[in-house]
Amino acid sequence: MAQLVVTGGARLRGTVGVLGAKNAVLKHLVATLLAPGIHRIDNTPDIVDVRLMAQVISHIGASCRFEGTSVEVEVPDELLPEAPIDLVRRMRASILVLGALLARCGEARVALPGGDDFGSRPIDMHLEGLESMGAEFELVHGVLRAIAPGGLHGAEVMLEFPSVGATENLLLASVMARGTTVIGNAAREPEIQDLAEFLVTMGAVIRGAGTSTIEIDGVGGLDPGRHRAVPDRLEAGTYLVGAAITGGEVTVIDCVPGHLRMELRKLGEAGCSYEVGKDWVTLSGPERPRPVDFATLPYPGFHTDMHPQMVSLLSLAEGTSVITENIYAARFRYIGELNRLGADVQIEGQHVIIRGVTALSGCPIDACDIRAGAALVLAGLAADGVTTVNDAEHIDRGYADFPGKLAALGAHIERFD
Ligand code: EPU
Repeated sequence: MAQLVVTGGARLRGTVGVLGAKNAVLKHLVATLLAPGIHRIDNTPDIVDVRLMAQVISHIGASCRFEGTSVEVEVPDELLPEAPIDLVRRMRASILVLGALLARCGEARVALPGGDDFGSRPIDMHLEGLESMGAEFELVHGVLRAIAPGGLHGAEVMLEFPSVGATENLLLASVMARGTTVIGNAAREPEIQDLAEFLVTMGAVIRGAGTSTIEIDGVGGLDPGRHRAVPDRLEAGTYLVGAAITGGEVTVIDCVPGHLRMELRKLGEAGCSYEVGKDWVTLSGPERPRPVDFATLPYPGFHTDMHPQMVSLLSLAEGTSVITENIYAARFRYIGELNRLGADVQIEGQHVIIRGVTALSGCPIDACDIRAGAALVLAGLAADGVTTVNDAEHIDRGYADFPGKLAALGAHIERFD
């Protein structure tokens, strides 16, 4: 068990850089399976989930070589079309190999995914979409067996909800399917546009990625690709909230400010002032935040993965804030931990009611997922005394050297393994 021990009170100051988005690089690694040869992905963060996905595709036959912030993936002609249960259960994104393996091998065996504990996270939209493209599924002892007897063909798929994973699975499946696929009500996240850009460098024909209608003309085969991953807007946003909650001033560089428009707007409403450039944001926190209401929504709405960090910030606001969580049914386990620090946060159905308090007081607390872990560390930065965040290995799944980067900004934080 890793622990992060934070002594509150320091205002974060300085400059921090972010690397490529976890939620883009994971998909690029899967996309490499579509073409034999040597691929290269630059701007890759060294985080646990990226290493896990490298293990998943290595099991399938690829070899991954990490060097600095790049990864080279060599994909052979023959693949073993299965994702092992122990890896899939540790990372939900492994389900994306389904689309890629069906496209490349006409079959796949993938265990049902695990991942963060956010309530039930079904994959019905992934399966319905792939079925309409000619795939057939059977669930045997917890393993999904997929085949595409006549090969995958293009289809018109209208998603019930703009699911990130379902959009990506269909994109991966369709780039080599016969004919044209149209994904309606597609997710518009920047990471989807980034996946499409990588696929296009491989020879795919895709129109409309980043909008809610994506059209894909299947091609006979793809070539290896090289791509620089889009910057991680969640890593960037987390450091900005770090500046906000400590009343400090932080410049995040190597990011895309336009990908954080809604989050910056809400930080502004909370009393932060900020300035943006082409690839940087400087944000100064207020002496005390103002209350803010918002709802999490698919992009370009407020990102659910920035919700826990904002709750930490608003727990110290002068007044009451209400956040409505629309993406996940149960993303609230961290709230009990935040309340142990003295916050006054209540859950009413999908609403989080945050009555601002004047101070938090450090104590031992447990991280339960990536963003909750980061949010609790941020709360610890603002709390009086020492906050020990247990189970901090959750944070390692999504943030490269979180304590090191915070310490470089002036935080008093130490890690114990
Ligand atoms: N959903 C269904 N059926 C489906 C697919 C999704 O009901 O077939 C539901 C989910 O249960 C959830 C909602 O739809 O309630 C949204 O799920 P979505 O498919 O959009 O999310 P995802 O692809 O599973 C990705 C990120 C998450 C991020 C969400 C939302 C990756 C690897 N994960 O998950 O990131 O919260 O999109 O933006 O890309 C994180 O980085 O900490 C993280 C959890």
